[in-house]
Amino acid sequence: MARLKVAVLISGRGSNLQSLIDACAAPDFPAEIKLVISNRADAAGLARAAKAGIATAIIPHRDYANREAFDAALTAALDKAGIELVCLAGFMRLLTAGFVARWRDRLVNIHPSLLPSFPGLDTHARALAAGVRFSGCTVHFVREEMDSGPIIVQAAVPVLPGDDPERLAARVLAAEHKAYPLALKLIGEGRVTIKGARAEIARGGADCGALPPSLLNPPD
Ligand code: GRF
Repeated sequence: MARLKVAVLISGRGSNLQSLIDACAAPDFPAEIKLVISNRADAAGLARAAKAGIATAIIPHRDYANREAFDAALTAALDKAGIELVCLAGFMRLLTAGFVARWRDRLVNIHPSLLPSFPGLDTHARALAAGVRFSGCTVHFVREEMDSGPIIVQAAVPVLPGDDPERLAARVLAAEHKAYPLALKLIGEGRVTIKGARAEIARGGADCGALPPSLLNPPD
């Protein structure tokens, strides 16, 4: 079966990119990363891509007069590489409505909270301030409104006594590194269907589409 051609858009560290690279290394994984794009030349994730032999492109947003021109450059690079699915992984630029429409249902993001709670920045500090007992991460299709769209995978982690934003972020990040590869696998297997505001997961062979708690709640 042909593997889904994926691009990953980053701005920094790229630890989620790494989790996707590692997942794609399995011969039977249904997706392959064809291109990594960063808007910042100093993004550490670029070295991760290069080490894995993946093509990289630096498209600095400052080189473009406006968001439309920047997004057009992104789409040109994605089209040139024959990309079928775009994964945002710590990509710190807001995308235009035109870009989101152009890649509708082929554009996914990971966010470090259980959406629809705590969209936007400073999620961990806000989750702690709200006193929630669980936080986590969400992989979702991107819609125009920031951090909204049909949910593909969520993973929950507990908020523990003594947590500060850094400790909680590290616990959530460990869950992100499992959730994103799982979401990509489900999409690559053709098991994700969007119905209105929801994404539905078709039953698979062994796992019947249910996500085992051990996967969703990694131990500390
Ligand atoms: C992650 O927490 C992700 O959820 C958020 O930005 C962070 C990116 O981290 N969107 P990394 O660059 O993947 O390490």
